[in-house]
Amino acid sequence: MSNPDFARLSLDAETQSFQSFIGAFRRLWAGPLYRALRDESRSLDHQALDDYPAFEAALRYRPKHQFFGWLEHNLQKMKYEGRWGIVHAANAERETIETQMAAPIGGNRLTEDPSLQLPDYYEENDFHQHPGGLREDPLAAVIYRESASAAGGVVGKADLHARYVRALLGDEKARKVIDIGCGFGRSTFAFTAASPDTSAVGVDLSASCVRLSAHLAEGRPDQDRVHFTQADGVNLPFADGGFDLFTSTMLLHEMPATAIRELIAEAFRVLEPGGISAHLDFLPPPDNFLRALYLGHSDRNAEPFMRELAEMDMVAEHEKAGFVDVQIVPFAEDDQGLGEKWRLPWTIIRARKPAGAK
Ligand SMILES: C[S@@+](CC[C@H](N)C(=O)[O-])C[C@H]1O[C@@H](n2cnc3c(N)ncnc32)[C@H](O)[C@@H]1O
Repeated sequence: MSNPDFARLSLDAETQSFQSFIGAFRRLWAGPLYRALRDESRSLDHQALDDYPAFEAALRYRPKHQFFGWLEHNLQKMKYEGRWGIVHAANAERETIETQMAAPIGGNRLTEDPSLQLPDYYEENDFHQHPGGLREDPLAAVIYRESASAAGGVVGKADLHARYVRALLGDEKARKVIDIGCGFGRSTFAFTAASPDTSAVGVDLSASCVRLSAHLAEGRPDQDRVHFTQADGVNLPFADGGFDLFTSTMLLHEMPATAIRELIAEAFRVLEPGGISAHLDFLPPPDNFLRALYLGHSDRNAEPFMRELAEMDMVAEHEKAGFVDVQIVPFAEDDQGLGEKWRLPWTIIRARKPAGAK
């Protein structure tokens, strides 16, 4: 039997109330406060794209902008930390959940690599303010999964990944998918759930993530079509040309530019001729206000490499690696459209390995 509640934290009433309070504050931040700031920003000079530094300087110390930034940083921090934070809730049940996580995993669903050398950038950063990142704590993935659904946020929509699969594939099917930076598996399962002809490998640096994903596969209808491997996406333990779709969601902005270039080259290597590479991530649209919020998010939410991603020419980078038909397409995370609520600027970066390539 599939058990989506596996290793779920049982948040006590006070923690639930506190997390709801953060969620309510977040809606205020992403809705009315965002709109007030956006409207105020329209009266600023320097709206031309090549005048961005002056625009950012004019926006920076406006009280509404300062409040927007303070809330963005602190609401995320409060979600994790303190007496009613997710980390405290995990520690309260640590023994039980560590035992669940350590339980054997059936089938051939997991490959762990305790000797894997984690890249420096991964060791040194607690991305999106997750205390300790996803590196060492066996419960890191449990905490990550809980925080992705607790208190709302900018990236938490339940059907996000299914929507991405539909936007990417339409009526087509992928046979053999590799999903890099699979987290707790939701991006990988979205592909195998979409078609019984699809099998997928989820890859992550985090031991906790691949282990939780493999547990969550247990009992699902697609359990025999998924496998989770602990590895670095830039150096995969797979032969050349074995996949027809290489994908990631919310991975690129956590990698420095040099690692992204290596990832693109690795995608080219493991894709079969004619295979597709596709990443769902965030790229700033051509608008100084939205760019300022995007780059501000990078600073305020411990996402230091978003700035590098924003500077990269993803079309040129893919073409340099041999890809063709590179497309950069905005992605709507829901039907409401952009504009009235702050959202990170979702974008699909898609490219094809030429049919005749080796
Ligand atoms: C923001 S999470 C996204 C998780 C998942 N794709 C989703 O959409 O829910 C990014 C994930 O990428 C992983 N990651 C970061 N750098 C990686 C790399 N070089 N190779 C494999 N995984 C990596 C992190 O451990 C983390 O689980």
